[in-house]
Amino acid sequence: MKSKTNDMWTRAKRVIPGGTSLFSKRPELHLPNLWPSHFSSAKGCIIHDLDGQQYIDVSLMGVGTNVLGYAHDPIDQAVISNIKLGNMSSLNCSEEVILAEKLADIDDCIEMVRFTRSGGEANAIALRIARAATQRDVVLICGYHGWHDWYLSTNLKQDKLKAHHLAGLEASGVPSSLAGTTLSFNYNDIEGLKYLLQSNRVAAIIMEVTRNIEPHDDFLLKVRNLATDNGCVLIFDECSSGFRQTFGGLYTDYNVTPDMVVYGKTIANGYALNVVGGRRDVMDAAQKTFISSTFWTERTGPTAALATLSEMERLNSFDHVLNVGRRVKKNWTKIASDAGIKVEITGIDAIPNLTFEKDHLLYKSFLTKTMLAKGYLASTMFYCSIAHTDLVLEQYFEHLSETFDLMKQYGRDKIMSELDGSVCHSSFQRLN
Ligand SMILES: Cc1ncc(COP(=O)(O)O)c(C=O)c1O
Repeated sequence: MKSKTNDMWTRAKRVIPGGTSLFSKRPELHLPNLWPSHFSSAKGCIIHDLDGQQYIDVSLMGVGTNVLGYAHDPIDQAVISNIKLGNMSSLNCSEEVILAEKLADIDDCIEMVRFTRSGGEANAIALRIARAATQRDVVLICGYHGWHDWYLSTNLKQDKLKAHHLAGLEASGVPSSLAGTTLSFNYNDIEGLKYLLQSNRVAAIIMEVTRNIEPHDDFLLKVRNLATDNGCVLIFDECSSGFRQTFGGLYTDYNVTPDMVVYGKTIANGYALNVVGGRRDVMDAAQKTFISSTFWTERTGPTAALATLSEMERLNSFDHVLNVGRRVKKNWTKIASDAGIKVEITGIDAIPNLTFEKDHLLYKSFLTKTMLAKGYLASTMFYCSIAHTDLVLEQYFEHLSETFDLMKQYGRDKIMSELDGSVCHSSFQRLN
């Protein structure tokens, strides 16, 4: 189909390897040829593409960045007014000091922080500090922690990351000498973790608090104790989970405190800022090594984060987001069961995730295609936000219910022919 948006994607693939710098924004991951690639404006949960077509975003919400909705006025105003005063200068901006103090007030684990602009680099910093603090090399991971050499080296010998992020991530370009420096363990597998700790001198355990699986049998507490007993640094990577359904880390729901914590995505509601925080004695090791970057000191990031935190408190966004997520999970369960289609619903409440028991990619593609035609950016993952009001949700559930009814009526073969080969990709693959 010829459109300005489609043309832009064709142009993008010619000049940007993979078409975009963020894997999750590849249209092929959602619905090849139909999922819009580029936007002209975004407000609340409404996005317009380059052709002026309007969509209600009930899925990615900036890939998890905008819990307060797109272009939230008080945040934009704070940023714009500081831009007018000057975004960059030869001197430091005071906003980062005020933000560091605020984070230390909010978060039990934080006494000192460093700032970055992306989650991958924040985790790389956290690890460097942990290695400097312990003078050890090996790192144990559980979850997704970015694109850097240290993380991707997990895949040098085997596709270990398929259990944590995506299948098929090649470690091409990562020095083979890194093999064995980052090892992975499975969520809830405490014996596996113990084994790795016994057979290596481990600097840090870095993990997501939880993503799709709930901790069983005091897993997080046991990890905490093992980290303490083995003298290694426990880092919770809360790039995705933090400041979403809790005002601070999701870890507070589990009464387990890490030594370091990493926040990103939500903390500046779509502006670029990530935080590496932790106890003073650990964070101070940042002074034994060199960690420094020009644009970690620009002003929009901390300005937006300060405005975001105060808006989150003013609006109790975390309660609202939790409530939205619970409603989504409840309605997905009902809609699927009414249509007699078997699904599994997982994920923390703020990020519900739905998996079709049979032919997941096929059904997911059909859902997306049908909902796109109704004006929704819908998928099987829903990053909840305060822009998802009662009205938005009610109308979404109605359209989704019609979509499931259609799936039931059509069955697998007709769904296949309706999709005409346009099925979403499931793993990492070349686009050009
Ligand atoms: C838990 C977690 N860690 C790290 C990252 C990487 O963050 P970024 O994409 O900002 O580099 C992500 C991104 O999805 C994430 O979910």
